[in-house]
Amino acid sequence: MARILFYVIVCVSFIGCTSGKKTNVNIIPRPLECFVDGHKTMKVAFDVFEGNEINDILKVTLDTVADDLGLEGYELVVDGNGISVSAKTEIGVYYAKQTLKQLYNDGEIPHVRIKDKPRFAHRGLMLDVSRHFFTKDEIKNILDVMSDYKLNVFHWHLTDDGGWRIEIESYPKLTQLTSYRTAWEWKEWWKEGGEFVSEHSEKKHGGYYTKDDIREIVKYASERNITIIPEIEFPGHSREVFAAYPELCCSKEPYRQNTFCVGNEETYVFMEKVLNEVMDLFPSEFVHIGGDETSTKYWKTCSSCKKLMKKEGFDDVHSLHKYIISKAEDIIMKRGKRMIGWDEIANDDLGKSSVIMSWRGEKAGLRAAKKGYDVVLSPLHYLYLDYFQASPTKEPLAHDGHTPLKKVFTYNPLPDSLASVVNAHVLGVQGNLWTEWIASNEHLEYMAYPRALAVAELGWSYGNMRSWADFRDCVDKHISKLRKKGINSYTLSGDINASVNYEDGNMLLELEAERGDVEIRYSLNNDTLFDNMTEYVRPIEIKNSLNVCAAAFCNGKRVGDIYSNVFYRNKAQSKKISSTLGWSNEKTLIDGYIGSETYLDGTWFNFSGNQEFVVDLGESLSVNKISTRWMQLRAGARRYLPEHVEFYISEDGENYKLVKVVDKEKLNDVPALQYQKFEVDGNLKCRFIKLSVKSDRGGMSVDEIIVV
Ligand code: ACM
Repeated sequence: MARILFYVIVCVSFIGCTSGKKTNVNIIPRPLECFVDGHKTMKVAFDVFEGNEINDILKVTLDTVADDLGLEGYELVVDGNGISVSAKTEIGVYYAKQTLKQLYNDGEIPHVRIKDKPRFAHRGLMLDVSRHFFTKDEIKNILDVMSDYKLNVFHWHLTDDGGWRIEIESYPKLTQLTSYRTAWEWKEWWKEGGEFVSEHSEKKHGGYYTKDDIREIVKYASERNITIIPEIEFPGHSREVFAAYPELCCSKEPYRQNTFCVGNEETYVFMEKVLNEVMDLFPSEFVHIGGDETSTKYWKTCSSCKKLMKKEGFDDVHSLHKYIISKAEDIIMKRGKRMIGWDEIANDDLGKSSVIMSWRGEKAGLRAAKKGYDVVLSPLHYLYLDYFQASPTKEPLAHDGHTPLKKVFTYNPLPDSLASVVNAHVLGVQGNLWTEWIASNEHLEYMAYPRALAVAELGWSYGNMRSWADFRDCVDKHISKLRKKGINSYTLSGDINASVNYEDGNMLLELEAERGDVEIRYSLNNDTLFDNMTEYVRPIEIKNSLNVCAAAFCNGKRVGDIYSNVFYRNKAQSKKISSTLGWSNEKTLIDGYIGSETYLDGTWFNFSGNQEFVVDLGESLSVNKISTRWMQLRAGARRYLPEHVEFYISEDGENYKLVKVVDKEKLNDVPALQYQKFEVDGNLKCRFIKLSVKSDRGGMSVDEIIVV
């Protein structure tokens, strides 16, 4: 390798350092303190960051920094004297080098003075390699990016219904019989019946990691200060186990169920042997045992499970879940390690060393933290990176909701309202990459980046230091760097996002784009020519109705889709609504907020079955339009359109007149997300409006009943 070409070009002292500009100089995650002398730089050869050459030019002092920088913190000074790093440990030095790598630009590093430490100990990324298998090299590529951004926990979801991925000597059939499938793609495979094939089969798709592979990856991760937490699923999500060892499930038949038999002693022999082999391979303090989404269906009728319930005095089948989790906890604790599991494992009998990974929102995690358990926050609406990150109308198939970069970045893991006792138990945050819909490394990179960089920000930097505007400019540069390295990162979108807000009784339309380098322009007359549109500088008031076209432009050229929509000041807003469901959140249907591109955003009303909704306008009013918008989503949990909606009006709330029946249109199978408006136009007069919704399948979502 070429010898370092390294020299200091400026020998004057760090003039202006203390008065230097406080900035993040495009470092992700943002350091605790960073002063840059904008005028001075040090020249460095470009290959200094390859191999260990960087070590030759660093002046490292260990065990010197103040205690409050912790074991991972560091101080970094680049000035006329060269580069000095002080840290308590080698981990701090490693992170200082990662920061230097980001500071390096075209042969130069700016003069800086940085003091840095992470906010959380657990800064994680989870990858599901069961639904689709990812090779050793693909895993290493992820570890490389993680270490660049100071993420330090790789949670490896190694087993699930889609295939067992880790060699286990005591149960060799796990990988021999269930790590390969009849089809590579998850959805194709299920269509074909979801069966596994032997590893010796000619037509096979999938793979597994040998013990040597695992050792190699654990070492690779450890060299990058990344701990790997292995996850072995119990007692649910284990359909693949029973394809190889059907005797371990209640039905004793392959492909019947995905839950271990809790009453069978052989289950615990399996658990002990497998977990011990896994613990032999992974030095991690934590072992993840899953514990999520467990069906109790077969336990209810299984004679062994019923016998166990009787013996233990359980009167509730859910106690069996607690029982098997406590067995896993014993096995793990015997090895001096700590069990971690999805939030379904939370119960008051759990040992205090066990950790809850909160995924169904944060409530379970924070409840456990209050009781003194350590928790990792990974709430699905913010940190599931397999969700759509841009409009599902254009994106590759993804799971359920819409979690754009901004949503990840603006997640607040520790709001001020939390007591410090709770804060102390939050070990950190984690982004999760489930892979039902992610069948290739290219797609995986697209979903992971740049959102994993936002997770790194949440995990490392302190909340009060974060600004979305700064981050999106900074992340844009990192996206370019990632793409230059051949990583298929998503790039920020120039499409318009519109939202309606209320201020002092005024209804305001806000427009924004994900890209920060754009000018948003709009028109109220369908004109979409740059010169004929108005620059958007502040929210636009909606007085009666507003027909808006908007687009983002960069240097006068449009960079995203043209957005167009009509917004109404709504006669139903803040009036009364009731329904046959009798829930309390029907008022979201008349709150004037339009839904975003996920039905999980709190502004969509989600329900199923034949239902009626009645809006009471409070007085008899003239009505020209009654409009409702419904979502059809062909991914994840799916949303279905009603078969039809009947619109009725009434003056007294008792005698209704049918105005119109609107049928479902046949919307195409692609793209994943589409909408249909079910609406009535006319010259109507009424106090009450009734919608009778008929549906014969699945969940439906409607965002608003608009009356104008
Ligand atoms: C999970 O997403 N089932 C943990």
